[in-house]
Amino acid sequence: SLAAVGDKVPETNRVQDRRSEKPRAIHGAEYAGAPDTDPSLAANRAWAARLLRGAPDTSLGDAVLAASRIDDTGILDRVLDTVGRSAVGWAEQGGEERARVLERAAAALAALRADLLEIAAAETGKTLAEGDPEVSEAIDFARYYATLARGLDEIPGVTHTSARVTVVAPPWNFPISIAAGSVLAALASGSGVVFTPAPQARRTGAVLAEALWQAGIPRELLAFVDIDEDGLGRTLISHPLVDRVLLTGSWDTAALFRSWRHDLPLLAETSGKNAIIVTPSADLDLAVADVVRSAFGHAGQKCSAASLVILVGSVGRSKRFLDQLVDATASLRVGSALDPHTTMGPLIEPASGKLLSALTELEAGQHWLVEPRRLDAEGRLWTPGVRDRVAEGSEFHLTEYFGPVLGIMRAPSLERAIELQNAVPYGLTAGLHSLDPLEIADWLETVEAGNLYVNRGITGAIVRRHPFGGWKRSNVGGGAKAGGPNALLDLVDWHPLPLPP
Ligand code: SER
Repeated sequence: SLAAVGDKVPETNRVQDRRSEKPRAIHGAEYAGAPDTDPSLAANRAWAARLLRGAPDTSLGDAVLAASRIDDTGILDRVLDTVGRSAVGWAEQGGEERARVLERAAAALAALRADLLEIAAAETGKTLAEGDPEVSEAIDFARYYATLARGLDEIPGVTHTSARVTVVAPPWNFPISIAAGSVLAALASGSGVVFTPAPQARRTGAVLAEALWQAGIPRELLAFVDIDEDGLGRTLISHPLVDRVLLTGSWDTAALFRSWRHDLPLLAETSGKNAIIVTPSADLDLAVADVVRSAFGHAGQKCSAASLVILVGSVGRSKRFLDQLVDATASLRVGSALDPHTTMGPLIEPASGKLLSALTELEAGQHWLVEPRRLDAEGRLWTPGVRDRVAEGSEFHLTEYFGPVLGIMRAPSLERAIELQNAVPYGLTAGLHSLDPLEIADWLETVEAGNLYVNRGITGAIVRRHPFGGWKRSNVGGGAKAGGPNALLDLVDWHPLPLPP
């Protein structure tokens, strides 16, 4: 509430869900305990393991993983057919039964917490401190979607989905939470799933799949398909047995999928270019901390990350604010993700292309407040950078970089700052630091993004509390927000009841 803003409570979050046109589906039924073990499960597993030519276990060696790779399309056909047939019975079980399985998945994820964050750190460079809340988020997704699945049984005219096979293609930067969230949403809707992890996070994906199988989700219903070449990706995405694709990735990947199959039912969360506005009324100490966390968490490799900070009026001339921003940025400890002292880990791969340019080249009129430095020969370890005087319409203003570099813009008024914030083609997250209720109200009215945060960082959406999803080029297919009350409603079938005469 606005009163809370006046009290300077840091978590004065205002997240709007502007697509909340559909009825809410939250019911508070209690978990009724695990169902009896299905005696066919062991046999199913053995069969599916053969089908997948050796399913990965949690002690993943390269050999096991290589063996689990799907490398010929005949196997792909069989996997899709199997998933589709398994989904029929799964859908007919009803939301309550599916909810119980999701709750067991939550417990299995909790049991494998240490494995998951360790493998994500080793494989993708996500620090242990960032991996830990990711596991929590995955557990939250499992519990929340269980609640929503139960709710489906209560909504007149809503049934399970008729999409038998959903391909889930999650990103490498949230290999646990977004992967689990998308897989579990599809399962909760009654669909079978082909989970194809990002190639950079295939081991993490395999451990996640193992956790879900351990929870009793049959391998025939949830197939793990490890694909590392475009040709096979194209075969999968354009396969006639695929009913739907849930993608979290770049706008370009969504466009590629569409080019492979024009009528593809695709729901995708895509890129972002996100800014935080700081006005003179803000708590500047809090603003510095939130900007730095939002810009450099996971080395800036989040679609939700702050890539720009827009300083209004006197904030742009505030030596105190700029000095603190420089100090806070320079205080980050860059290093191995497995070192608990590290506050910023490595890039997923050596910086190249436009990210390398953003880390090394200034545009006309810009200067470094903090110049990035490369720390390793390979080019994965960079200290974070802050460039000043980013001009309206410049490349840095409009381009998503996905790396540890922040740009500063200045505006004479909040109105102009919002114009700069809205000028980007994407609309995922947006932040405002202000303690003025009128400023906050104006901003909420005019900013064009899916997740709006006031006096808080703009990353780290919390399931149920901050339903997550974008506008403009941050969303393809118009799907509902992840972790929000409508998350399953886009995935199930509606049979509207006839209106009363
Ligand atoms: N859900 C993540 C966040 O809020 C981004 O995908 O940061």
